Amino acid sequence: MLAVGLVAMTAATVPPVRTAAGIWLDACLWCCFAYFAVEGGVRLRAAMRDRRTERYVPPLSGLVDILAIVPVPIALICGVASETAWLFASLWVLKLAQNSPEFAQLGRVFVLEAKPLAAVGVLFLIVLILASTAMHIIERQGQPDEFGTLPGALWWTVVTLTTTGYGDEIPRTSLGHLLGAIVMICGIATFGLWIGILATGFAAERRRSNFIQTWDLIGKVPFFQSLDPSGITQITHMLRRVEVPERTAVIRRGKVGDCMYFIAAGEVEVDITPAPVRLGVGAFFGELALLGDLIRTADVTTTKPSTLLILDLADFRTLMAHHSELARAIDAEAKRRLGEIQRRRELHVHGGATAP
Ligand code: CMP
Repeated sequence: MLAVGLVAMTAATVPPVRTAAGIWLDACLWCCFAYFAVEGGVRLRAAMRDRRTERYVPPLSGLVDILAIVPVPIALICGVASETAWLFASLWVLKLAQNSPEFAQLGRVFVLEAKPLAAVGVLFLIVLILASTAMHIIERQGQPDEFGTLPGALWWTVVTLTTTGYGDEIPRTSLGHLLGAIVMICGIATFGLWIGILATGFAAERRRSNFIQTWDLIGKVPFFQSLDPSGITQITHMLRRVEVPERTAVIRRGKVGDCMYFIAAGEVEVDITPAPVRLGVGAFFGELALLGDLIRTADVTTTKPSTLLILDLADFRTLMAHHSELARAIDAEAKRRLGEIQRRRELHVHGGATAP
């Protein structure tokens, strides 16, 4: 709906397209508008119900709904031409950010890193003002049209600091060139700092949210229930969470293995002869390769959408060294499985040999 709406809105601004298919474009735009209006209504109803049950309702989501629904009819009612009124449909693009956990995460990063970001902003402002004033003084006589006023010099500094470099205003004196070079370097340094702050903030935020989700999941895996809180914290740092759809191969027999898996939700099927074995919530798999020659002994496929916790080889070794109770449990289960694989193979071969 969003794509259709935005394409229709864009096409409606091209006169030949509007002349040829104006009615169809309007029909598309009204359909999208009706869809967003109904969606907004449904969301509002759900939000009111949630408020009754005191659940959290993200206020930004409501604002996006309002911006998607209200401006177009108001503009039309106020007599704005239809072509112009429908330009407010560009606000529909905000729907992309609505209810996106990653976007919410980015928002949190901006809030958490507000102070360092603002500090770099102040640095930007200092360079901007000082460089503009200096450039105004240096170049105003030679280029009164470009640098004769402070706003003109400010424009040059913004274009240079952001490394955009339109080239519509350039210094002509040697001193101006020197200042230009300094401003360019300051611009790169400032943006580098901003990007660095945001990137590390985003990575830290992702780590935090992964930690919380993995911690929650670990609590549901009976295998880890013997661990004390510090043990759980340690293991939580080691595990990676992955959502796997139904009927997806997680492990292929004969491949080199570098991790094992714990099932936090869902189910997998281990393809061993003569009959496959199913493993459910709390079970683990993929340990045999790590304990042996790293070669996988069987295919493992999900039978339901599953949440798996992945433990990489290096962390597996740490876990085995530091948590003797878990190590014993994994060892014992691995021995049992190896025995079972052996037994089943023998039975199969034996059965195959005696078969007529
Ligand atoms: P790995 O050999 O690394 O990869 C395939 C996995 O299937 C294996 O580790 C075990 O975790 C699992 N597996 C093999 N045999 C059995 C079995 N009999 N019962 C349960 N799981 C098994």
